[in-house]
Amino acid sequence: MVNKILSQLTSVEILTPKVDDTLWFFKDLIGLHEVGRKGRSIYLRGWEDWYTYSLKITESDTTGVAEINWRTYSEQDLLDAVKIIESYGLGLGWDNGDSEFGIGKGYKFLLPSGQVGRITWEMKTFKSSGNLRSGFKARPMKKPTIGVQAKDLSHVFIFAYNDQALAKSVDLLKRLSFKVNEMLKEGNHTIAYWMAVNGTAHDLAISVDPSGIPGRLNHFTYNVDYADDLLRAADTFSEYGIEIVGGPLRHGITDSHSLYVKEPSGNTVELLHGGYTNVVPDWEPVVWDTKEDENRWLYYWGHVTEAFWDGSPIPPSRVSEELKELARQKLGAKV
Ligand SMILES: [Fe+2]
Repeated sequence: MVNKILSQLTSVEILTPKVDDTLWFFKDLIGLHEVGRKGRSIYLRGWEDWYTYSLKITESDTTGVAEINWRTYSEQDLLDAVKIIESYGLGLGWDNGDSEFGIGKGYKFLLPSGQVGRITWEMKTFKSSGNLRSGFKARPMKKPTIGVQAKDLSHVFIFAYNDQALAKSVDLLKRLSFKVNEMLKEGNHTIAYWMAVNGTAHDLAISVDPSGIPGRLNHFTYNVDYADDLLRAADTFSEYGIEIVGGPLRHGITDSHSLYVKEPSGNTVELLHGGYTNVVPDWEPVVWDTKEDENRWLYYWGHVTEAFWDGSPIPPSRVSEELKELARQKLGAKV
C-alpha cells in the first residue's frame, strides 16, 4: 500500500514571449478570471478552481512550463515528500511562497524529466465576494459569461528527455503517491504513463521525448462543464484565428472528450470533458500498444492534425536557459 502524500495538482506556471496575446487567449477565449499581477507574472483561475489561482503566466523570451505545483495532505506529508526527493538528489530548496496569492512555504525540486516542481501544504482556499460570489454554495466563484467558461485545471502532460529520465520520473512520482492508471507501449518499450493522485483518470501524464531536451511541456489542460462546450470552443477558436490541432475527439486512454489548440505564443492547451474516476487501490495499469491499437489511445474517434505532431513524434515546446542550466547541474544532461 502506498501512503497518500500529494493531494492534488494546484497550478502551473507557463512562459510566453507574447504576454498580451496569451493573456487575451486565456481571459477572453478560455474564460479564466484574472486574480492579480506581480512582476512579470499574471495569475488566473477557473471558476471551480479551489485555490487562489491555477495558472501563472510569466513573460519570457521562450514558451514552456516554468513550475508545476502540488499540495500535500499534511505538513508531515510535505516533510516526508522532501525526504523522498532529497534521496534522489533533486531538491532545490525551500521558499516562503506568496501569501498575496494564498500559497505558503514550499519546497522546489527538479523532476528527473527536467521540469521544476514545487510542493506545499499551506494553501488558502479561494473565497469570492461581491459580484463574484455564487449562489451555489460550494462554488468558489460565480461561473463567468466569458469565452468557453473553463472550469478548473485538469492535468499537465510533460516530456521525459530519454528512457532513463522517464523511468526515474515515474519511480519518483510513484513514491510521491501517484497511481499509474494507463500506459502506452511500443512493443516491449513503455513510452508514456497516465497517472493521478486525485482519483481522476490522470492529473499528470508523461511520455518519452526523443528530442533529448529536458524540461519540455507537451500540454496542459482545463476541464469544461459540458461536452458541448468543446464544440462551442471549436467555433470560438475558429472565429478568432486560434489554430485547432486536435479534436473534438474522444481519447482511448482516459476515455475523455478533448480539444487541442495552440495559444498565441505556441504552448499547446487542451480542453477536456469527462473521463473516469478511479480510486481502486490495487489497480493494475491498463496497457495500450501503438502497434496493436494504432492511434486509438490518443483518438478513439475524431483525429488530430499534422500540426499536433508538427513533423516529429511529439509536439514541440521550448525550455528556458535557466532550466537547461539546472538540467546540466542536477541531471548531468548535455544540453
Ligand atoms: Fe491531456
